[in-house]
Amino acid sequence: MDDNAKSHALNQINYGMYIIGSRNGEELNGMTANWVIQVSFDPPLVAIAIENDSHTRKLIDGGRVFSVNVVEDSEVGRALIDLMVKPQKPYRNKMDKFEFVTGETGAPLFTDAVSWWECEVVNTIESGDHQLYIGKVVNAGINKADATPLSLAALGWHYGG
Ligand SMILES: Cc1cc2nc3c(=O)[nH]c(=O)nc-3n(C[C@H](O)[C@H](O)[C@H](O)COP(=O)(O)O)c2cc1C
Repeated sequence: MDDNAKSHALNQINYGMYIIGSRNGEELNGMTANWVIQVSFDPPLVAIAIENDSHTRKLIDGGRVFSVNVVEDSEVGRALIDLMVKPQKPYRNKMDKFEFVTGETGAPLFTDAVSWWECEVVNTIESGDHQLYIGKVVNAGINKADATPLSLAALGWHYGG
């Protein structure tokens, strides 16, 4: 295989930008992600791919729930991305900086998100260096009806290839 072509082509997938919220017991976390996709209308199912060695993975494995927060193309949206891309472990206070409420599942829902939904995990698939979680959407909300969601291309970063 031509590795250069593989990376080039895979980086041409269009993505949005999200904060994955997770919860296990009293512990909450948020993580920047773009590997998010709807995979069924009925029931409404969404798949997210989460790095095996991330803290988010530990929390989702324990709590079996997650939220997906759609990030706004704005200064506050970019600030959320900047903070939530840091690993939870050395920071430990990622959740002190931005307002959130907890939803039906207990996962964090960020006030600055354009919209959000929360899921119960119905299936977990080992997927190389990531875990693929299939979640059933059990609740959703809109914070900013007229805001523009941030795309990976507009952000100008890469995660893929
Ligand atoms: C643009 C971008 C997109 C990312 N998308 C994902 C993703 O879809 N899944 C994932 O597991 N990590 C993704 N990451 C990496 C995580 O945000 C990063 O590993 C984070 O530190 C994990 O946080 P945690 O340790 O608190 O779980 C992405 C990073 C960047 C820069």
